[in-house]
Amino acid sequence: MDNQWWKKSVVYQIYPQSFKDSNGDGIGDLPGIIEKLDYLAELGIDVLWVCPIFRSPMVDNGYDVADYRSVDPMFGTDQELDGLIAAAGQKGIKIVLDLVLNHCSDEHEWFRRALKDPNSEEAGYFYFRHTEDGQPPNNWRSNFGGSAWAQTEDGRWYLHTFAKEQPDLNWENPKLRQALYDMINWWLDKGVGGFRIDAITFIKKDLSFASGDAKDGALYPIENFQSYPGISEFLTELKRETFAKYDAVTIAEAPGVSPELFAEYAGPDGHFSMIFDFNWDHMKGVSVKCDPDSVSAWRSRMFESVLHTQEHGWSAIFLENHDQARCPDKFLDKDKHGRDSMACLATTYMLLRGTPFIYQGQELGMTNSIRSGIGEFQDVSALNQWKEGLAQGRSEDEMLQELNDYGRDNARSPFQWNAEQHGGFTTGTPWMPVHSNYREVNAEKAQADASSIRTYYKGLIAFRKSEEWSDVLAFGSFEPALTEYPSLIAYRRSFEGRTLLVLNNYGGSLELPLAEGEVVFGSVETPEIKDGKLNLLPYQSVVLTETE
Ligand code: GLC
Ligand code: CA
Repeated sequence: MDNQWWKKSVVYQIYPQSFKDSNGDGIGDLPGIIEKLDYLAELGIDVLWVCPIFRSPMVDNGYDVADYRSVDPMFGTDQELDGLIAAAGQKGIKIVLDLVLNHCSDEHEWFRRALKDPNSEEAGYFYFRHTEDGQPPNNWRSNFGGSAWAQTEDGRWYLHTFAKEQPDLNWENPKLRQALYDMINWWLDKGVGGFRIDAITFIKKDLSFASGDAKDGALYPIENFQSYPGISEFLTELKRETFAKYDAVTIAEAPGVSPELFAEYAGPDGHFSMIFDFNWDHMKGVSVKCDPDSVSAWRSRMFESVLHTQEHGWSAIFLENHDQARCPDKFLDKDKHGRDSMACLATTYMLLRGTPFIYQGQELGMTNSIRSGIGEFQDVSALNQWKEGLAQGRSEDEMLQELNDYGRDNARSPFQWNAEQHGGFTTGTPWMPVHSNYREVNAEKAQADASSIRTYYKGLIAFRKSEEWSDVLAFGSFEPALTEYPSLIAYRRSFEGRTLLVLNNYGGSLELPLAEGEVVFGSVETPEIKDGKLNLLPYQSVVLTETE
């Protein structure tokens, strides 16, 4: 049997700016996380992924790293990070840091030296190009909008897959690679549990730098360069020189990995322990919405992905992260937001095969905030998209709607701790306003309420990790069930002769013919099987045992 510890883990993601402010400057920080470790331990999670806390000008909230080895003063001190690793460790919680390897900040000393001296060693750490005509070297478009090239004062162009303040690192350069490996091993020696690895599929470029075929005359999207041939050599070396020497977990953000490539990335001998499963998450414009067609479309994509994964490797499963809308808004109509529907979403994904991730505030049922103008958005990507959208002739209303529905700021509003001012997040002025519903939706209230969504999450985590069922839920096979019911998301998990049947009803009341089984977990009242039938209420989740 498999003994990789992270297969039984439940990971909690922290966006440090917005988790807990300890000193009243309005920005969440490391002492704030330490202060709330008991809250997290009580929830039952055992790994904490902390988004970047390294020195950074914060153009992309820390994903623009100016020094990979030191903590930004905004978040605290290097000692406080050591303190967090130790204090979490005492509670059985491992810390996973965010590793940004595709790019750094334009304020990193490497880039500064490269700017100052085109012949410096560091100039070779980036992609600089000259052009004769004053135009960018090609028509590639950055992920955040606009050209993927920016010009230096002395007229050189450099490549940036994301914001222009995030110059791409030249992985072709062995010295650069070694510098990154040294840094990674330095963190592993400090005792971190592993890394979430940012945007890793972008590290290999098409070195011909030819313009892409942008049919509409617009710029060519750089997404088309994900997982470019040749990336395998880089990733093999990365693992060999770093992670493989430790018992570390590695969770890669690897958009663009096709099913054929999945095993190479996240198979038993893959480059990483797991990669995020984006296959059934990116549902722009599609909502579960209690309507059978959309539920079954969602289900097909989910099942297809999990069936593939179980044959070839392991994935990280999630409903939310810091780049996305909140899950109730993503998956449910507004009038369907409620404790039961959120519990149904939670049960649906957390008992699948893979390592479940919970994003801060998801356990409280935090939702999107509606912003009334572009001035209320802070995310660099939102601001770029806005400019680009208007330049393409889209209306302000349409752009505002899109950013309100899908924008990354949705997930970044401060955590709601209690009903006090600013939700107890800070005693000062928060860097981003707290959602107006904080008096209703907050941790203190949720913890005290046996029927809250948070209490349900806690029970679900305990069930997932229970001695009785953790082997079945971690290692058990996955098999779709009862797909003839369009609004039901049902599946079996089986291991060594024991089976769990997981039922999640997204439709109206349902009578299921079930001969036998014992209910072991559920979201509402515990139903019974009577006369060969089980009745499910709308949004009810039930888990039954079946003996083979
Ligand atoms: C990843 C991160 C995102 C960041 C981007 C650039 O997609 O999740 O927040 O902006 O990489 O580092
Ligand atoms: Ca602070």
